[in-house]
Amino acid sequence: MSSEFSTADQAAITSGGDFWHTAAVESAGIPAVTVTDGPHGVRMQASGGDLLAGVPATCFPPAVASASTWDPELLRRMGEALGDECRAQDVAVLLGPGINLKRSPLGGRNFEYFSEDPILTGVLATEWVRGLQSKGVGASLKHFAVNSQETDRMRVSADVDERTLREIYLRAFQRVVTQAQPWTVMCAYNKINGVYASENHWLLTEVLRDEWGFEGLVVSDWGAVVDRVKAIAAGLDLTMPGPDADGDAALCEAVEAGQLDPALLRASAQRVRDLVTKAGERPAGGYDAAAHHALAREIAGRSVVLLKNEGGVLPLARSGVSVAVLGEFARTPRYQGGGSSQITPTQLDDALTQITAATSAAVRFAQGYTVEEAGAAPAETDSQPDSSEAGSSGAGSSQPGEALLAEAVAVARECDVAVVFVGSVHETEGADRDSLDLPAAHLALIERVAAANPRTVVVLSNGAVLATKPWDESVPALVEGWLLGQAGGSAIADVLFGRVNPSGRLAETIPLKLADHPSYLDFPGEHGHVRYGEGLHIGYRGFDAREQPVAYPFGFGLSYTTFTYGTARAVATETGVEVRVPVTNSGGRAGREVVQAYVSLPGSRVRRAPRELKAFASVEIAAGETTEVVLGIDRGDLAYWDTRLGRWVVEGGDYLVSVGASSRDIRTEATVPVPADAARVPLTTESSVGEWFADPRGAQLLGEAFARAAAEASDGDAGPMSAMAADPAMLMMLGSLPLSRMATFPGSPLRADQLDKLVTEANA
Ligand code: BGC
Repeated sequence: MSSEFSTADQAAITSGGDFWHTAAVESAGIPAVTVTDGPHGVRMQASGGDLLAGVPATCFPPAVASASTWDPELLRRMGEALGDECRAQDVAVLLGPGINLKRSPLGGRNFEYFSEDPILTGVLATEWVRGLQSKGVGASLKHFAVNSQETDRMRVSADVDERTLREIYLRAFQRVVTQAQPWTVMCAYNKINGVYASENHWLLTEVLRDEWGFEGLVVSDWGAVVDRVKAIAAGLDLTMPGPDADGDAALCEAVEAGQLDPALLRASAQRVRDLVTKAGERPAGGYDAAAHHALAREIAGRSVVLLKNEGGVLPLARSGVSVAVLGEFARTPRYQGGGSSQITPTQLDDALTQITAATSAAVRFAQGYTVEEAGAAPAETDSQPDSSEAGSSGAGSSQPGEALLAEAVAVARECDVAVVFVGSVHETEGADRDSLDLPAAHLALIERVAAANPRTVVVLSNGAVLATKPWDESVPALVEGWLLGQAGGSAIADVLFGRVNPSGRLAETIPLKLADHPSYLDFPGEHGHVRYGEGLHIGYRGFDAREQPVAYPFGFGLSYTTFTYGTARAVATETGVEVRVPVTNSGGRAGREVVQAYVSLPGSRVRRAPRELKAFASVEIAAGETTEVVLGIDRGDLAYWDTRLGRWVVEGGDYLVSVGASSRDIRTEATVPVPADAARVPLTTESSVGEWFADPRGAQLLGEAFARAAAEASDGDAGPMSAMAADPAMLMMLGSLPLSRMATFPGSPLRADQLDKLVTEANA
């Protein structure tokens, strides 16, 4: 670092120049660069006043939708397109992707996150980052870590056990960091086990840099830093936003007083400098807004999940079938959530216009509810409107509400098919939801229309799962339309009319009810703490472990065609396991199947979920064709985190690979022997008799010690404990005795003074 780069300069450059820029240091010739949100569009602040009002940019489908494609290739293309838009706006770093896991369906930012599964999240986000960075624009992997709720997000401590942290909440971060080297990682607001992420040396330095080899810069979430000195000491480089003169002064004083290692500040400042240099290398560019809109439409179409389609109601014929389009969301689309990710779109498709354009038959619209009504308090499950009493339908029965419903019913009666657009309304950063229920006015619309027209299709617009029971039983077709970005309206029409054969799959479980959810009892915590009580059993892992029914399982989604699976074969390879399975499109039209491989290890020494997703592939198969699908499972993904050794361990054994079309639709299974990692837990005086006997060397030494004690005893009787050790039933009881405790018992075959030698020999 050049000499003119003083401690004061170093301090200044480690906080922002303003809300969206790094600080320029003129004396050292360092310009400022722009960083901005993210993640599903480029939100460049348009003018001074409104932080969130952006320059028009393509609003791609938010992660809740794009994750449902289960297609890393699409995510890469989205990343590339975002990179082009960043270049056009001179953005150095785009603040995304957001890869926190969806721990609870109530999570207010679930629409910005991918999944309840770390592998699905990690694989998709890796490609997004690769795509973006291939354009010379940096990603910001966020929010590191365990930021799975909005309630009290700036203070709450996420209290998570070590295995759960490693195997679930950090796993996706580890994958993206090691495979794609994002230019930056954004540290979360919250605390992890009592320590702010921004002050967490273990997280930011030991895990992120020392273990995973992260080479980039750690930026704070906006306002996440409480103490700049502690943050730099922990491994955080850049505090945003800025400037922060007090913090700069505190850093200089801490260095002067010998309280902060100057090398740490220097290293952080250098990382900011490196980022600026790297950003300076990207060429300027422009982008084709129409082409990006088309890409947004393609991804949105691939995101739609067909949940139900009885009697072939869908796809709709493009002529001769009149369509009632009902619900304000068809005209005023809900296509993104609120908060920092909000994009001002370049154009906006609504479903009503697109449906009208897609068919030569009559299309009639009725509003059904107003957007204001959509915001009404959610219906109580036990007070849902009663469609048998026309005119008194519960919360949808206000005077104007009733008139809108009656109009919708009349239109539904006069058309061949009714398509009802409903969904959630309150989804925003900063607040969690408090219910999974649809607004009462929407429930009323579904009930009344379903009673009027047996060919009713419900299309949902929502950023996180909604309860679908029991109302989905009253309609033959249900389309999960998520928040689909600016081209959502055309994408929905593509799916409804079969121009796109649906291939989206649920990246999160839809429960029967909130109380069933594994997170239910421990979300969102209280008094500054949230306990991750379900541990490893997040999402489908928990539903499967407790053998609970769900409305629609993780990985589920229908198609307009059908697929049959042949027999899976699995072999261990140097890098893990390779699974091959023939899949046939047994229906009448081309389609895409998402083939999923779940793994379990029967008889594992550690607690594991019954099934864990380890690999998947989205494959296009022509009607009548068979494709051999090859799925590669990384050996590292078979590992569990051993808390005794403080590292990943692959247990040896016969792994069961279950291949299917969802987590609850397994079509074929294969068993594959996998060799164990060398992983010996050292024996100590605190290891139990059982643990000593479970270890080959320990068993030999302890056996010999017991035998010696018997031989040495003058009367040939080594005492009651040796006798016990000889009896298998007694040995089970003795098994839990730590060696040190055993040695204190009268008549023990071991003396305290023998233990250290035994331990040394056992571990030699
Ligand atoms: C959000 C981040 C975002 C940042 C900048 C924060 O409130 O948590 O995701 O990138 O603001 O807008």
